[in-house]
Amino acid sequence: MNKIATHSFLILFLAVLSCKSHLPVTSYNPYQYTIQKSFTGSNGAVVSAHPLASKVGVEILKQGGNAVDAAIAVQLVLAVVYPGAGNLGGGGFMIAHLQDGSDIAIDYREKAPGAAHRDMYLDKEGNPVMQLSRRGHLSAGVPGTVAGLFASMKYAALPFEKLVQPAIDLAEYGFVITEAEAGGLNHIRPDLERYNSSKIAFLKPNEWKKGDTLIQADLAETLKRIRDKGQKGFYEGETARLIVAEMKKANGIISEEDLKNYTAKERKPVIFNYKGYTLVSMSLPSSGGIILKQCLKMIEDKSIGKMGFQSANAVQLMVEAERRAYADRAEYMGDADFVRVPVDTLLSDHYIRKRMEDYVPGKAGSSEQTKAGILPKESEETTHLSVADQWGNVVAVTTTLNDGYGSRTVAGGAGFLLNDEMDDFSAKPGVPNMYGALGTEANAIAPGKRMLSSMTPTIVLKDGSPYIVVGTPGGTTIPTSLFQSIVNVIDFNLSAENAVNKPKFHHQWLPDEVFVEEGFPQSVSDSLSSMGYTVTRRSSIGRTELIKIEKSKDGKLVLEAVADKRGDDAAEGY
Ligand code: DON
Repeated sequence: MNKIATHSFLILFLAVLSCKSHLPVTSYNPYQYTIQKSFTGSNGAVVSAHPLASKVGVEILKQGGNAVDAAIAVQLVLAVVYPGAGNLGGGGFMIAHLQDGSDIAIDYREKAPGAAHRDMYLDKEGNPVMQLSRRGHLSAGVPGTVAGLFASMKYAALPFEKLVQPAIDLAEYGFVITEAEAGGLNHIRPDLERYNSSKIAFLKPNEWKKGDTLIQADLAETLKRIRDKGQKGFYEGETARLIVAEMKKANGIISEEDLKNYTAKERKPVIFNYKGYTLVSMSLPSSGGIILKQCLKMIEDKSIGKMGFQSANAVQLMVEAERRAYADRAEYMGDADFVRVPVDTLLSDHYIRKRMEDYVPGKAGSSEQTKAGILPKESEETTHLSVADQWGNVVAVTTTLNDGYGSRTVAGGAGFLLNDEMDDFSAKPGVPNMYGALGTEANAIAPGKRMLSSMTPTIVLKDGSPYIVVGTPGGTTIPTSLFQSIVNVIDFNLSAENAVNKPKFHHQWLPDEVFVEEGFPQSVSDSLSSMGYTVTRRSSIGRTELIKIEKSKDGKLVLEAVADKRGDDAAEGY
């Protein structure tokens, strides 16, 4: 039998099986699919890190689900088909703008376990042991994703059973993996062997290769428990028991109580105006929305559009804004449920204007001189998905295990990877985390506290209606990528595709360097160097998923979805 015939046979076989199980005969084939990078249509659009996830999202929209339904189903599928960042064992943030005009922010960031303490990653001499916060059992925060999905259900139209079924089917009957996924799994093999004593689906006797089928039976059972018991199917009972049993195998500290007590929270999003557009972005415990507002406001009066896209002057202006915003992030930001963060001041026009008083066009600033602002006393793997439906609901979700495949530790018997999000805390003031981010007391570890994030799911409204739905992974490069994507569209009039795919740059105060991605014009790097900047080339920055929404002359929606060229990202719609 040739390959195609084998696949057809397999689909037929599964369809027969589906009489007994719930496997639907789907419009997509998990054993044979291609990656579509852009889509334009008028009924609905989904863009995510994996083609199967985007396709499921569109299926849900076609079945009458709204953008929130689709976002929930896409996250669940990503937890199966994109184990490097899609997750049940991590956390994330959702930003939505709904048909009725409301703006929603849901925080399902992981929390430090109850037994966590400030110095838990320091050795006897007080030096951080990075390995402990980045790999293995102790690096995991209490997962938030499942609570986040159920908090999102408040805005969904379809029953959860329907939204979770595609993920169950893909876990149970498998799907073929891409070349990138095979490479990812092979790359982390030594860690998987080191941190797991149970039998796990991600390890097999030989190397993974493109086209191999990944079946995740334990994960399917976990998803069924969540389907049948709701949030309790994860935070209590068998799944909770398996997580805690895994913790006990090594030095993990997540307890049954920690799991039972976890709650997702609705937050007030950061909402602001930039050149007549309204931006809705994530608030603390993500620094993303604050950094994005600070950066955009710092350049708003400087006619950047006239400087030209990626002209040295435009890049320099943006870099100087980024430097100042990141100095504030390091000094002031943390979980506002635990520490007082002067958010109102950091976001005030007066403060932001003052921050740029020492900006000199054409001359590199210095992070040694540019500290965090003085405040008046006052009272690589995360994943993003964007969804738009025909009714005007839009959703932006960024979700993560922290870096690729998180702690590399699977909750044995439950089939999902646990995060290593504890590394996003500041293990010790002045010591950078894996993204080079610094922090102070504001982001020190405390039981039950959420670690500071950079994730920035964002919606831009034009005349009150959704215009851009955007976000990306990339650690500390997330807010600066968002800054660029938005300025690229609004100020430089770039197409959605160029706004996403053109090379990006990044500055984060310390280290005092401008990082530029492969393909960033050499002439611009040279100009920046001659202004006094240290310019460092680095690997790719982010994987931006963007939907641009306009109306045609006859009033029809025109949804243009663009999936980043940097990965397996795929845009689908109808
Ligand atoms: O929350 C954060 O800021 C990080 N844990 C995100 C990590 C990330 O984006 C890694 N992806 N490349």
